Amino acid sequence: MKDSIRHLIQQALDRLTAEGTLPAGLTPAIQVENTKDKSHGDFASNIALMLAKPAAMKPRDLAEKLIAALPADAGIAKVEIAGPGFLNFFQSTDALAQRLEDALADERLGVRKAGAAQRVVIDLSSPNLAKEMHVGHLRSTIIGDAIARVLEFLGDEVIRQNHVGDWGTQFGMLLAFMEENPSAAESELADLEGFYRAAKKRFDDSAEFADRARELVVQLQAGDEQCLKLWHRFNDISLSHCQKVYDRLGVKLGMADVKGESAYNADLPDIVQSLRDKGLLTEDNGAQCVFLDEYKNAEGNPLPVIVQKAGGGYLYATTDLAAMRYRSQVLKADRALYFVDQRQALHFQMAFEVARRAGFVHDGMQLEHMGFGTMNGADGRPFKTRDGGTVKLIDLLDEAEQRAYELVKTRNQERGIELDEDELRTIARAVGIGAVKYADLSKHRTSDYSFNFELMLSFEGNTAPYLLYAYTRVASLFRKLGRSLDDIGGQIRLAAEQEQALAAKLAQFNELLGSVADKGTPHMLCSYLYDLAGLFSSFYENCPILNAEDEATQQSRLRLAALTGRTLKQGLELLGLETLERM
Ligand code: ARG
Repeated sequence: MKDSIRHLIQQALDRLTAEGTLPAGLTPAIQVENTKDKSHGDFASNIALMLAKPAAMKPRDLAEKLIAALPADAGIAKVEIAGPGFLNFFQSTDALAQRLEDALADERLGVRKAGAAQRVVIDLSSPNLAKEMHVGHLRSTIIGDAIARVLEFLGDEVIRQNHVGDWGTQFGMLLAFMEENPSAAESELADLEGFYRAAKKRFDDSAEFADRARELVVQLQAGDEQCLKLWHRFNDISLSHCQKVYDRLGVKLGMADVKGESAYNADLPDIVQSLRDKGLLTEDNGAQCVFLDEYKNAEGNPLPVIVQKAGGGYLYATTDLAAMRYRSQVLKADRALYFVDQRQALHFQMAFEVARRAGFVHDGMQLEHMGFGTMNGADGRPFKTRDGGTVKLIDLLDEAEQRAYELVKTRNQERGIELDEDELRTIARAVGIGAVKYADLSKHRTSDYSFNFELMLSFEGNTAPYLLYAYTRVASLFRKLGRSLDDIGGQIRLAAEQEQALAAKLAQFNELLGSVADKGTPHMLCSYLYDLAGLFSSFYENCPILNAEDEATQQSRLRLAALTGRTLKQGLELLGLETLERM
């Protein structure tokens, strides 16, 4: 709807320009917003305020001319001028009802992408394999997964790339330790944290061991067979750990999406050579660097992107350049989105700039760092265990499920309901895992947030339990009637205020998803669903369904309820949450 209003305004502007009311050559970015207060209509634009000056007119006068020049549109019932010169658009309830009918008749709820479909690479999760996944990897994994789902739903082709750290210097240390303990059982290795700690201790205590570790990295990178064998053994175990976490989280990531740092090893010499050929390299203390004048350190000197160390070793940035080239030239991506901690912002800005200058990515390709803040503990400091260690993701999920189990059990017992163990476990999983994910996704991506079990498991507020419960209310309504969400006759008619408010929200789903996909902001989808659930509640309380005054009204309301239910379910699924028919 916003797009079509923008289009109407553009036509009015063209008309006013043609007749000389507006000077030629204006290309304003036309802004159309949803109004907060329905007495101001459904959408508002400040275009008359923006153009008053170049038009040398009072904003309200220009607004009047614009209204006169607006082409008629079936979707708009009336347009009014408000305040200093805002244009308020009231949508036609008939047209709105028809849009909802179209959504209801469509499996995909009428959702389409505004522009052409694109091929989008999503760089997500990407833990370092030397250690077990910890809470720091949660955000990249689930935010990336949610955006991947939204893009796919809108019709884009998504390629997930799990750029795991499987090639760093730490591997020398791990291999040296494996070599020393050839009989290290599967179970010992399976405790990645313990294994890493033991190896690190050896490394710190023994200079000989440290030397051997450094030797082994070189051999590994040179393709030594014995080293590769150990390395594969270790990585397989570590990756199967990651897979367990992904499955627990219900994210769409599998082994086929893994394309780790090691995959680019053979490309690295060529990346450096290409930079040299293009005259971008400078040697600094033996290291090969690209200096970017626009990035300066505290002393005002240009910062380098180091691509090769004095000893010949390559770096994180070199691998990222190779990955960018691969994503452009081989995967032919239109867009690459990097879901990586905000603290790597400078790394990505600089690496993107080098990739552009070197021509590693084609001109039309968008490179976007979708940075995120830190997950903190209740004390506002980075989340740690009681004794200051990192919290393993798997332990956190276990606790979430256990807490959800107790919560759901008690809540049902209080209502005199005794659920069987299997169902209780299923609900606990959806609620517990959903709560952890939703609490994260509902925060603004770039802010830090405090992890808090009590808040995320509350049935009130913008939480997973609240939304999952809202969906079960719709489901139970249909269960009571013995009907399914997609077999109701009749037609949507929007009479009551609460029906109109709910309908207007439902009609925003498509555009909302478009913004979420452009900006990489799942929290906007969370707020949308939360608002939708709230509007559904007031509709449900004020507009009787089972005791509606006549059948046509009942059917209309059931259709609204069904579309709400399906939108909630679809929205939660795009966030990666499992919905329940009852809880
Ligand atoms: N492995 C890195 C880390 O744990 C994240 C990699 C992100 N992706 C990338 N293409 N650099 O910090």
